[in-house]
Amino acid sequence: MWFFYTPGDIRPSSRNRVARLPAPGYVAAMSDTVALLRQVPLLRNLPLAHLERFAERTRVLDVKAEHDIVEIGTPGRCLYLILYGAVRVLYPSQNSDFELARLGPGDFFGEMALLNDKPRSATVRSLDDVRLLTLDKEDFGAVVAQEPRLALELLESMSVRIRNADEQISGLSDQAMEDPLTGLANRRAFRQRMAEEVDRERRYGTPFALVLADIDNFKAVNDTLGHDAGDALLVWVARILSEHTRACDVPCRIGGQEFAVICPANTAVTARVAAERLVGLVGGANTPLQHGANLTISAGYACFPEHARTYQQLYLLADSALSRAKESGRNTAVGADPTLDTTLEVEAEPDDRVSAEPPAETAQGTEEIGL
Ligand code: CMP
Repeated sequence: MWFFYTPGDIRPSSRNRVARLPAPGYVAAMSDTVALLRQVPLLRNLPLAHLERFAERTRVLDVKAEHDIVEIGTPGRCLYLILYGAVRVLYPSQNSDFELARLGPGDFFGEMALLNDKPRSATVRSLDDVRLLTLDKEDFGAVVAQEPRLALELLESMSVRIRNADEQISGLSDQAMEDPLTGLANRRAFRQRMAEEVDRERRYGTPFALVLADIDNFKAVNDTLGHDAGDALLVWVARILSEHTRACDVPCRIGGQEFAVICPANTAVTARVAAERLVGLVGGANTPLQHGANLTISAGYACFPEHARTYQQLYLLADSALSRAKESGRNTAVGADPTLDTTLEVEAEPDDRVSAEPPAETAQGTEEIGL
């Protein structure tokens, strides 16, 4: 029998009955395939004769640690049962692989692509040296069709996986208010908090200020020193913003190198002090870069309701002030001047809390944080 290489799926090179498996701690007394299969929860309800038939169709596959056994997006050809060792189920994302689950002895994987004839839904990577039993797609189909008890076990295991995945998703949506690099509130949290502050002012008359800060010449840092150095600077600036603002202030990262601080109960005077202080702190501190090039930020600030009637307007005014800070040589803080920004008359929306959003692009054209 020939076996063709399938991208993404590691498969055994020949049909290989399991005679003796040196799997300490997993099969001590039993050493044949049927004895092994009996220990696989998926198969626990199959009668002996059926297990024997099943065993005929499986093959052994040994995989070294850190190998991709199945690869997301590729066609599925086998089901895998883990005899010993562990694997990680990963969903690759832009920055890193997100771990969906860890599976160990007795667990199976690779059933989804076989059942729905779609590409592999995730990458499965060996965590350490693993020994697997594999079952070809056709054999898997035949076994499922003949064994309702196995089909039920499959359903039960898959519903546990769906339940776990649901819990992960709900956890993720909680975390999605945080910028993963700096730990600051992200753009989504920023919008929500701005809307809340507008609402608070309307109910209780408590003003607030918005300070926008942007790292000067950040692109040059990234271009000359690389993105790791750029990331280190972002984290460093974020720490300064966190450590040198009041507990009630909300520092956020709202774009590539653009930060915001929402300052409850601040007026134009206190906002100016806060903005100038942050500019001074960053400009006067040693950066974490080895060849310590001077790093500065520019800031623009505006106050609600003193300068603006909606939070979109507040954002635009602070952003315009930030642009003026850049134009005037950077490393400085500039306050909103509604008389200069007469074009920024944005009508209040019926309910700011739900629908109003600051524009996606700032005057500096900073990139969005993916939300
Ligand atoms: P399949 O899509 O064929 O290939 C990748 C396998 O990873 C998939 O089948 C499942 O066996 C497994 N898998 C995918 N998502 C999860 C999850 N959330 N929990 C556990 N296993 C999963």
